[in-house]
Amino acid sequence: MSQATSFPRERIRITLLENIHPAARETLEEAGYMVELIPRALEGDELNAAVAASHLLGVRSRTKIRAPQLAHAGKLLAIGCFSVGTDQVAIGDAAQAGVPVFNAPHASTRSVAELTMGHVVALARRIGEKNLKLHRGEWDKSLAGAHEVRGRTLGIVGYGHIGQQVGILAEAFGMRVIFHDIQKKLPLGLNRPVSSLDALLDEADFVSLHVPDTPRTRGMIGPSQLERMKAGSYVINLSRGSVVDVEALRTALRSTHIAGAALDVFPTEPAPTNATFDVGFTDFPNVILTPHIGGNTEEAQRNIGIEVANSFIGFIDRGSTEGAVNFPNVNLPEIPDTHRILNIHRNVPGALAEVNRIVSEVGANIEAQQLATTRDIGYLVMDVNKELSDEVNSRIAALPMSVRTRILY
Ligand code: NAI
Repeated sequence: MSQATSFPRERIRITLLENIHPAARETLEEAGYMVELIPRALEGDELNAAVAASHLLGVRSRTKIRAPQLAHAGKLLAIGCFSVGTDQVAIGDAAQAGVPVFNAPHASTRSVAELTMGHVVALARRIGEKNLKLHRGEWDKSLAGAHEVRGRTLGIVGYGHIGQQVGILAEAFGMRVIFHDIQKKLPLGLNRPVSSLDALLDEADFVSLHVPDTPRTRGMIGPSQLERMKAGSYVINLSRGSVVDVEALRTALRSTHIAGAALDVFPTEPAPTNATFDVGFTDFPNVILTPHIGGNTEEAQRNIGIEVANSFIGFIDRGSTEGAVNFPNVNLPEIPDTHRILNIHRNVPGALAEVNRIVSEVGANIEAQQLATTRDIGYLVMDVNKELSDEVNSRIAALPMSVRTRILY
């Protein structure tokens, strides 16, 4: 791609807040951009000033960007949530302001999968209880209820990014792996799909949940599912707290029908706090409890840094909105000897007709064009011959529905 960009890299102001992993800065600097780092979360006037001054703004979870902050987004081109979720940003308002929001939904996949397997082995060996006892000075070497996982059946509910990784790791442990998903999924290795959740519950020694929080998954493991599970089987939940009916799980554990559980997520979770917090299972030594740390590793943070930084680069250099959570996803291949015009507009009838009228009036040649829309926003990426690109660009920018227009290289 030509470096003769109409928006030189050194003029692009990138601000990364909240101690975002250094890999983000390295990735951006390697691509020729300069980065300003602010180690803390911002709020109030300081945040408004950062929004106003930045072309690209990176945040983690503590900086909240809502409509009042977006009112300062005069030159802001994109926001990066250096996190799995995007709750910290009002993504609908950002879309209205013509600002795509990027995140890294799958950067912690492997971390969650590894911890899941750790929990499978720990449950099979009753590590939760042994650990508690030895901390109290009790030397309990009994082998009652301790098993190898080799040859046992792991049932994966939700065979997406994490579920599939768990399936691969479990097979390496010599486990039989079955899975259930509402979508048709290609099985990896010897992993085997089953016809329904019930079929999975009938067969699995360990049931591991890897579904998102949806109306359909809320409480999907309730009294009848727990009853249906094999006697002496285990529940593992590193997905969302809403998926398991915790009262029903306590009942099933008390009756010893369910031999144990590993829980990383809970129906209510506190904000980071020094105060004590009762997750409701402290009376069960056969329940392993972790405070929503499935994705919390150095490696996942690094992956998040690299993934979101690359989304920034793709958007600035090529206009790619691939992976943006609030924007039509467009990723048009580059064509040599063209200028690329990016136009974000309100999705009103006739926008494309207006653009095509301008192009034909000035006699420009369109080499490639892609328009994608969501309900509110249209995003047009258009490659035109160089001679006429400036004129096309400024006339498109002047259209009443245009929100933002930018020309590249
Ligand atoms: P994904 O979107 O790649 O996979 C989810 C899978 O669940 C999809 O294949 C989908 O078709 C399937 N699914 C949806 N509804 C279903 C239903 N009713 N029955 C069966 N299958 C259903 O998501 P990913 O990245 O694998 O994440 C899975 C879960 O892990 C999410 O809840 C996510 O929030 C959670 N997570 C937890 C972390 C932690 O720290 N403990 C960190 C990262 C993600």
